[in-house]
Amino acid sequence: MKLQTDFPLKPYNTFGIDVKAKLFASFESVQELQHLLQMPELKQEQKLILGGGSNLLFTKDFDGVVLQNSIKGIEILQEDENYTFVKAGGGEVWHEFVLFTLQHSLGGVENLSLIPGTVGAAPLQNIGAYGVELKDVFYELEAVEMETGQLKKFDNADCKFGYRESVFKNELKGRFIVTSVTFRLHRNHKLNTSYGAITTTLEEMHIQQPTIQDVSAAVCHIRQSKLPDPKQIGNAGSFFKNPEIPVTLFDILKEQYPNMPAYPVSETTVKVPAGWLIEQCGWKGKVIENYGVHKNQALVLVNYGGASGEKVKQLAHDIIQSVEKRFGIKLNPEVNIM
Ligand code: EPU
Repeated sequence: MKLQTDFPLKPYNTFGIDVKAKLFASFESVQELQHLLQMPELKQEQKLILGGGSNLLFTKDFDGVVLQNSIKGIEILQEDENYTFVKAGGGEVWHEFVLFTLQHSLGGVENLSLIPGTVGAAPLQNIGAYGVELKDVFYELEAVEMETGQLKKFDNADCKFGYRESVFKNELKGRFIVTSVTFRLHRNHKLNTSYGAITTTLEEMHIQQPTIQDVSAAVCHIRQSKLPDPKQIGNAGSFFKNPEIPVTLFDILKEQYPNMPAYPVSETTVKVPAGWLIEQCGWKGKVIENYGVHKNQALVLVNYGGASGEKVKQLAHDIIQSVEKRFGIKLNPEVNIM
């Protein structure tokens, strides 16, 4: 819990941007966090809560205190006929939690295998992949209110989950620190393999009656083939959200671009894959000095080593402009630009 000054953040953000924090402290329990929040020297400081640092782009040194959530522990709380309730510390690595569920044959998060980041950060943007979102298995969370130090509970409705959205990115932005999350996992789980690549991958693996472990293995395989490993190439996963556009606009665009993919969201809107739009504008695989757009997935911006966050931000800006010019669709970043 030691307070450190002039602290290098490069190992703490998966983009691998070389910046510093004025102050840094890590906490391993709710009590340690409450103690930190009461320290007079930290009261007035701007605060940044760090999980795995996997959804962040630093563009400059952080002039405040970075608080790293290191609250660990995964425990089974209770079981009923259909469900098992599992509570995990906010500082647990997300995939470690997924592995725990696989070991205990609990279904629900196998499609979310290998998503970078921590358990505590997962609800903030309602992480999702391959047809499943965190909200589908979320039961409740505990969070400390920064101003008062009080521990509060939020259930599924309180969190106001949406596509890569929650109350903690909107009305309550910057006001709470998630210390634990409780999940409601299935004992007799219905697998969700409808997402195209999972079915094909399972077929390639010669698996006819997949288990949750098999689905997890398939998802890991797909992710590893498409998405760069942050340990090797700095990145923060999808840099942009997939935009939702009116069906009326989609119908017009479809005439000009018959191959344009889209997924229905409601009667009046569809979601278009940003990766497709960016690829059409010629950005896929583009390398500029030591940063660029990933060659296998145009939604992912990468730092090949030593890139400045400011330059990556400029690249994102250029991509947004070119997509808007060509398609009239405005992309929004999914990562937090600091
Ligand atoms: N596509 C392209 N070019 C590309 C990338 C994608 O044409 O460079 C097309 C694909 O052919 C496909 C469609 O876009 O038709 C969708 O691609 P993909 O299945 O790779 O998924 P995505 O929509 O690009 C989203 C999530 C990912 C998640 C995958 C799988 C967002 C912003 N991203 O990507 O999440 O892993 O679906 O479910 O919703 C993340 O958030 O960091 C992340 C990686």
